[in-house]
Formats: sequence, C-alpha cells, structure tokens
Amino acid sequence: MTETAAAAAAGPGRDRQGTVYRDGALGRRPAVPTAFGDLERAAQRASSTRAWAYVAGGAGEGRTMVNNRRAFDRWAIVPRMAHGVTERDLSTTVVNTSLSSPLLLAPVGAGALIAPDSDLAIARAAAATGVPYIFSNQGCNPMEDCAAAMGSASRWFQLYWSSDEELVDSLLHRAEASGAEAVVVTLDTTMLGWRPQDLNLGSLPFARGEGIAQYTSDPCFRDIVRQRIVAARDMVTERPDVTLGAIRTLISMTRNYPGKFLDNLRSPVPRAAAETFLDIYSNPGLSWEHLATLRDRTRLPIVLKGILHPDDARRAVDLGVDAVVVSNHGGRQIDGSIASLDALLEIRAAIGREPTLLLDSGIRTGADVFVALALGADAVLLGRPYMYGLAIAGQRGVEEVIRNVVAEFDLTMALTGARSIADLDERFVRPNPSF
Ligand code: GLV
Repeated sequence: MTETAAAAAAGPGRDRQGTVYRDGALGRRPAVPTAFGDLERAAQRASSTRAWAYVAGGAGEGRTMVNNRRAFDRWAIVPRMAHGVTERDLSTTVVNTSLSSPLLLAPVGAGALIAPDSDLAIARAAAATGVPYIFSNQGCNPMEDCAAAMGSASRWFQLYWSSDEELVDSLLHRAEASGAEAVVVTLDTTMLGWRPQDLNLGSLPFARGEGIAQYTSDPCFRDIVRQRIVAARDMVTERPDVTLGAIRTLISMTRNYPGKFLDNLRSPVPRAAAETFLDIYSNPGLSWEHLATLRDRTRLPIVLKGILHPDDARRAVDLGVDAVVVSNHGGRQIDGSIASLDALLEIRAAIGREPTLLLDSGIRTGADVFVALALGADAVLLGRPYMYGLAIAGQRGVEEVIRNVVAEFDLTMALTGARSIADLDERFVRPNPSF
C-alpha cells in the first residue's frame, strides 16, 4: 500500500484501535470492556439489583431478547477480498438529520437507577461523539437541560402518547423548543409488559418518582396534578401503611421532585405527581386516528417506533410518516415476540426500498450494525450497550461504547470492501450455514 493509501485507510476503526493500543503501551486499559459479554458482566457488577432488573430485564421468560440475538446469528457476513477500497464514508442522512455513522442512541427510561443525572451524561457523550440522542419521555432530566448540555448536537424526542391530549401538545411544543429534529412516537408501550425481574422486587421506578422528569417539569402536567389534589381534598382516602419501604418510596419521590427536599416533604405534590403519571402517561386506546392528528400538531418530522407487522408499516407509510423504527422495545414488552431483525426483512420486502426504516432491539456490536444495514435498515438505534457503559464509567463509559461500536462497524466495512452506507446491501450477507 502506498503512503497515501495507508493514510486514507484510516478511519474511526483504526483511530480507536490506535488510541486503545497507545494507552495500553502506557499501562492504561479502556474504561469499558470492548466485547459485549464482558461489558454486560461489568455493568451488572456496577449496578444495584433494582437498576439491573429494570435495565437488563425483559418481558416474561426473556424469549424476545433471545430471538433478537438469534436473528443476528442466522446471518453470516461474506467479505470480498482484494477490493482495493481504502476510503470509507460512514455518513448518511435520515429524517433530515445528518449522521456521521448510521447510529442513534435509543431512548431509555429511568436511567438514574444506573447513574445520577443519567440523561445529562448521555446527552454530553452523544454530543462528544456526534451521535444523535433520542431523549427519553421517561427520562430523569428535563429535555431542556439535556438540550442545553448538547449545544448544537442533534437530538430527537421520544413521545409516549398520554391519555391527556393537552399534555401531548405540551410535550410536542417543548420538544420543538428544545431543538429536537424529530418526534419518535413509541407505539408498543400503551401499558408496561409483564417483567418478572421488576415484579419479583416489587420495583417500579416511576412509582418512586424515578423517570418522570419530563412530566414534573411540564406546566400542563403540573396543572393536572394541582387539579387532582384539589379534587381529592374532600375525598376520604386510605392512608398507606407506614412501613420502611413506604418511607423509602416517599423519600425517593421527594428527592426526585424539582425543588427543595424539605418543601417537597411537606407537600402532597410529589406523591400526587407519581400517581398522576401512572394514570395518564400512556393511552391504551391509542389508534391510527390519534396518529393522524400529529401532522397538524407539530412541525417536526414524525417517526413511529415499535412496528413489527408489515401491514402496520404500510399503514405508517400511507399516513406519510417520515420513518418507522422496527422494534420490539428491547424485548421488554411481549415475551416470545418476533425478532426485530426478522421483522425488518419482512417489512422492507413489503414496503420497498424507499421508506426510511430504522432498526432497534438486539444491536450489540459494530458487526450487528453492518448486518442490519445490509438487510435493509437505514440506521440503527443502540440501547442497552450504552447504558452498560454508563453504569461502568458514566459519560466516558457511554462515549467509549459508542466509539467501540462505530470502530467495529468501520473495520467491518473496511475488511469487506464496502465504501459507503449506500453500498451496503444483501450482497454482503447470506443465511449462516453454521447456524
Ligand atoms: C419504558 O420505556 C420501559 O421500557 O420501561
């Protein structure tokens, strides 16, 4: 290879290897393990039992999470040799957002179980690595604070469709004002799935005021809470048993509510806020009629997340949405659901090459990103891996996980001879004969 070709062969993969090996020569190890299994084990050791149950846990027997991984195992990458490709372009554009690589950070709720000010740390890591962050509607820091932490870096906003329509409008309005470049409506969580890890601990973060910062910072939500407190004043309500657990819950609600701890402790508002959230955060009656109203309610591009059936994808396309995220919510909603990657194949075949499809659920490595794109995704969402980085090393841990995934993706492109995102298609993969 000529010197020029060697220089051109550089990219995020070689850069990351260079950093890791140079640091290694000085006796420094990466903050987070570079293989997913080790990352997961280290994150579990760094997390409380409750945090691990919530973040790593899934629905029922965990079969959807297994399906998500097995779906990747069913595909093999078939690299080409002597291709002479020295330059790669990982950049792409989805939903008018320019991406330096085909990766976005998925919205993950209740991150403060893992690390304090979780969403701010993730927002800073996303900005530092140039990867868009989809703010969680169940986040632990208000979207305005996350936006301020990101400067001009790209962010989207995830919306759970509340049963209160004014609250929906208020969240949309705040997302626009916070510089979100798209709204991602999560369709698959009109109620929480059956999650044995949380159930066995009797642990629901939101009931403790964890993961409801978008609500407690919302003027419309605060009005609803005030009205409910007034309406409840004349009603005889049951006094909860005073147990150690109840006191812990009260302290958690009080600490998580904005304002001074002692003021909150004397006030009925933090408890009423958690109860109100549980009553209205989602609308079990969500229908296509609701979704059809979105275009008139926001100027933001619309992304629908949680679609698994080709007919639903067709309907989304007919509605004129800007993108669909094929997702089973990281296996957290239905046990034994179709793997996201399998659904992606069916959906791409049904709707053709044009509509924008993102894949969420099951992405663990850069090689997974490669396979997802070769099978028809335009970009992917990364979820648990970056939360594991957060558990181990805070903002730096999130950054390292992102850099590692992008590095491996880049190296996979380099070693297979793919020049660009547009280049990636089924020519690079085949059903895995060893599976
Ligand atoms: C919420 O989005 C959850 O998966 O708990």
